[in-house]
Amino acid sequence: MGAQTYLERYLDRSGAIDWDPDRFGPIDVDRTVANVVWSLACIETDSTSQASKIERAGFTRAPDVGSFLPHWYEEEQEHGRFLFAVARASGIEPPGSARLSTDADQAGQPPGPMLAVLGRIPGADVAYLVTAAAAEYTARFMYSWLGDEFAGTPVVARHFKDLAAQEARHLGFYRSAAEARLDRSRLARRFGPIILRRYWRPVGIDTLGWDRWFDTFGPMVTDPRFQHQLVGIDRLVTALPGFADTTPMRSFLADHDLLLAA
Ligand SMILES: [Fe+2]
Ligand SMILES: [Fe+2]
Repeated sequence: MGAQTYLERYLDRSGAIDWDPDRFGPIDVDRTVANVVWSLACIETDSTSQASKIERAGFTRAPDVGSFLPHWYEEEQEHGRFLFAVARASGIEPPGSARLSTDADQAGQPPGPMLAVLGRIPGADVAYLVTAAAAEYTARFMYSWLGDEFAGTPVVARHFKDLAAQEARHLGFYRSAAEARLDRSRLARRFGPIILRRYWRPVGIDTLGWDRWFDTFGPMVTDPRFQHQLVGIDRLVTALPGFADTTPMRSFLADHDLLLAA
């Protein structure tokens, strides 16, 4: 698919979701679910850090990413505002800063000043796009699940379904943008998977830090139903040209002794 096609397909339906906390109605959800919403609000709000890294790596010089990113950023920021409003209505106030991780949590990740250099390596842009696609995949299924969890509050449940649909459109963009680069570059097919395997970790660790990430999502990733959904990320990745042997989620789970028997 040409760049214009997938970019235009996304732009045709982009725009912040319409919501109003006064219309939520009374919310009565489990504290654990409310805490997941709060943590996702932090992750969405911290798209500020992600956007700045993408900029530093030079990926916004590509016309498709350069046009997409400002719209994506506005939508993710709106997701953060909505999620914090839901968390507040569920009894949890927003933190002073959405970024809760420490420097130690970033160990092994490329330091900021290295991004401009790393971004020039063939396939680095693909590794970013595939990482982003995996994050959108996770977001889509989390909001779809939350839509069910908030069934007792129909207005909020519908907003979660709207969020899931928007994440699906983000996923569509990232996957198509990765495919376009892989189709035209042998070097991207060779180095993209290597870079992804070197740096990939699930969405949220950057923002929450390891301990809080495990406290919040650990019980979910070891639940067989959720884990089955999560390893769907690997099906998305292995379908890409050059990535047949790259299964980031299974590798992550195995490395942390979290992988359940199939
Ligand atoms: Fe989002
Ligand atoms: Fe998204």
